[in-house]
Amino acid sequence: MKLLLVVAVALVDADGRVLISERPQGKALAGLWEFPGGKIEPGERPERSLIRELKEELGIDVEEPCLAPLTFASHAYEEFHLLMPLYVCRRWKGSVQPVEGQRLAWVRPTKLRDYPMPPADEPLIPALIDLLAPL
Ligand code: C5P
Repeated sequence: MKLLLVVAVALVDADGRVLISERPQGKALAGLWEFPGGKIEPGERPERSLIRELKEELGIDVEEPCLAPLTFASHAYEEFHLLMPLYVCRRWKGSVQPVEGQRLAWVRPTKLRDYPMPPADEPLIPALIDLLAPL
């Protein structure tokens, strides 16, 4: 089966909330909420893909040292197997904007389950709760 490599990020604000983005109508899994990101281009380093996608989708600038991989999603969809590292980013330049008209939400990790997500994204939630739980 084809392997699809996608990067995703949990942008975390000063209050410990995480950004999720609604997949637009006309795309696969429309209406579900995902961690922002996108496909890794052939020959591209994952961190570079993420920097590119965050600029394209949210209009923000992220620096590579701000990105830390937290965990991986691995899910067998019908047409491909998805492998998706989740990065965490707490610092960026610019204000987050829905460049592609997508709906955005800042959500506490424990409330992420209130938003329907693609099956690959949902298993990432516990790692975020663990990371961001108040000490
Ligand atoms: O975003 P894009 O449509 O390019 O992603 C390709 C595929 O990867 C989606 O159709 C979806 O199956 C999967 N995906 C996912 N979770 C994400 C991003 C993509 O399951 N956060």
